[in-house]
Amino acid sequence: TPKSEENLRSPICCIMGHVDAGKTKLLDCIRETNVQEGEAGGITQQIGATYFPAENILERTKELKADAKLKVPGLLVIDTPGHESFTNLRSRGSGLCDIAILVVDIMDGLKPQTIESLNLLKMRNTKFIVALNKVDRIYDWKSNPNAPIRNAIKQQSKNAQSHFNMRLTNVITQFKEQGLNTELYYENRDMGETCSIVPTSAITGEGIPDLLLLLVKWTEKTMVEKLTYSNEVQCTVLEVKVVEGHGTTIDVVLVNGVLHEGDQIVVCGMQGPIITTIRALLTPHPMKELRVKGNYLHHKEIKAAQSIKITAQGLEHAIVGTGLYVVGHHNDLEDTKESAMED
Ligand code: GTP
Ligand code: MG
Ligand code: NA
Repeated sequence: TPKSEENLRSPICCIMGHVDAGKTKLLDCIRETNVQEGEAGGITQQIGATYFPAENILERTKELKADAKLKVPGLLVIDTPGHESFTNLRSRGSGLCDIAILVVDIMDGLKPQTIESLNLLKMRNTKFIVALNKVDRIYDWKSNPNAPIRNAIKQQSKNAQSHFNMRLTNVITQFKEQGLNTELYYENRDMGETCSIVPTSAITGEGIPDLLLLLVKWTEKTMVEKLTYSNEVQCTVLEVKVVEGHGTTIDVVLVNGVLHEGDQIVVCGMQGPIITTIRALLTPHPMKELRVKGNYLHHKEIKAAQSIKITAQGLEHAIVGTGLYVVGHHNDLEDTKESAMED
């Protein structure tokens, strides 16, 4: 019914893939930030989160489709590390999302953590799009900043096009060996059966309009029920962090429901349930990474989906990956404590 469509929450998209495939750089390209260059060794070591409002997505996709309209308020993107030692973080990230982007370096093809990510997604039956990244590294490629990918490919020399096609065919074959059918997204007639590939460059921005529009339109089309906003709080702790001036804080992803300043909450702790009160609800500015220190926006209440930094007393021993529960009218403190410790 149109009624439910009017009340969609933002989809949560997890970005996964082998180390250095360009996951963070793709987000930097969309955000116009330099998070990746600030990472130790250029390696992501934490889960990240960024909120992209619908208006920013439309701005970025207008060259591809000028009159696009979005039903969702925005998109929450979860960045994950590709380094082999962070399987737990990839698993946590993929467990939170509605949809995913699997990033493959076009020059390298499928790598061990590409396959590991693929298996995590298959296991949870999560739909995903493949970003075939670093197309700017194709031999003789002439870059066309931020262009829709079909325009970019059309303008390449015969040489560059055949090099591109060869790499693409290799990757499609490698996916086939993993039991997955893939195809260029604009040639894909059935996204339910065959996974779409969007060629991208995080350096020149080529293919970014395609990736964003396909992602949002596809979720809107196929996940209305899942994305219909519900009042029941569904929230997961991502990180426990000491922040100067705020004490110990938790970074959470609010998947559904609403949180208020002053809410009594329960989180799972190493020495039993932690019962505390939300002192402040903080978010980075839209299009800024939660894991990067910056200016936070203060909120009286926040509606899902969002990534949030919560300040409260007694969070020191909170356990990451567990749920956050709100003590409310319907659930009394004892039940809530029990739920929290079951995670
Ligand atoms: P981890 O989070 O550590 O797994 O890596 P990642 O997948 O986030 O890759 P990252 O963004 O750190 O990029 C790795 C390297 O590839 C960096 O040096 C980037 O500048 C480079 N890179 C990423 N995307 C592109 C691209 O599209 N083209 C080119 N030429 N270089 C890219
Ligand atoms: Mg990264
Ligand atoms: Na990296």
